[in-house]
Amino acid sequence: MTRITLSSPLDMHLHLREGAMLKLVAPLSAKMFAGAVIMPNLVLPVDNREKLEKYILEIKNAVGNEIFMPYMTLFFRGYSEMELAKVKYDIIGVKLYPAGITTNSENGMQSLKKSEKTLSILQEMEIPLLVHGESGGFVLDREKDFLSTYNKLARKFPRLKIIMEHITTREAVKFLDKHENLYATITLHHLLITLDDVAGGLLAPHLFCKPIAKRPEDRDALLEAALNAHPKVMFGSDSAPHPIHKKESSGCAAGIFSAPVSLPMLAELFAKHGALDNLQTFISDNARKIYKITPPAKTITLEKRTWRIPENYGYVVPFMAETSVSWGIVK
Ligand code: NCD
Ligand code: ZN
Repeated sequence: MTRITLSSPLDMHLHLREGAMLKLVAPLSAKMFAGAVIMPNLVLPVDNREKLEKYILEIKNAVGNEIFMPYMTLFFRGYSEMELAKVKYDIIGVKLYPAGITTNSENGMQSLKKSEKTLSILQEMEIPLLVHGESGGFVLDREKDFLSTYNKLARKFPRLKIIMEHITTREAVKFLDKHENLYATITLHHLLITLDDVAGGLLAPHLFCKPIAKRPEDRDALLEAALNAHPKVMFGSDSAPHPIHKKESSGCAAGIFSAPVSLPMLAELFAKHGALDNLQTFISDNARKIYKITPPAKTITLEKRTWRIPENYGYVVPFMAETSVSWGIVK
């Protein structure tokens, strides 16, 4: 196969930021995706109706005439039923960050116990919970350690839809089978790189992200789930742009900017493994079923065509800058 047409591809985990950065990166996602789940970790998190409405407008202005549905999330905190009732139809879920675990998460969850009231409201209102599942322990064990929290959450709230965001380990893939109400997103970069690519040779700041890339056997397990379009798994790029001076510095910010390359590189990867037939399911159909959404109609065709990823998009360096990809978008 040298061509594939995808129907309404979706990116189920995306950071668009705000202001000038949003204006720079949002059109790049809107060009290729029919919609995306927008993360709420702005410097002042999106955690009330007013900020949410302002943010939706800002995104709509930045994408202009492109068909692109921003599926919004609120930053987890203690919410009342009334507060959530006012935004229920404007959001796809609530995103929970353990306090201090990643970029702009200082106001995240302090304790599960204190969060139970809100979690039970989410369950009753059928609002999905999206989770950055890392503990505060040793960096390579953070996701594995957090599985016990997922276990408690899934058991205590069996009707709450819980999305394990950007899973990176073999254990997390296996864990999906443990509870019916657990689902996951997988990024492009975790299908391609391991810790060796980040820190095994010269340190690669543009491959540094949270959760950090793990071992080859972890990547293989993620690949198997994605290539087989595991029904509980969706694509979520976790494209998280930072200006170049925040990446190429001592104290490198976590986040990989993959939005402009994710679809072509996924096509290349699926083609390489003879799994192109499963790309539609991984990139859109699973998400539609899991979240019960009907994205706007939009078709994107990719073809076998070599192009070079630019050195930068403005002041942001993309994933795999200055390398060649063998699949490209048909304009
Ligand atoms: C994300 C960011 O920069 O907002 N960074 C990252 O490394 N993935 C936050 C996140 O999703 O953890
Ligand atoms: Zn993220």
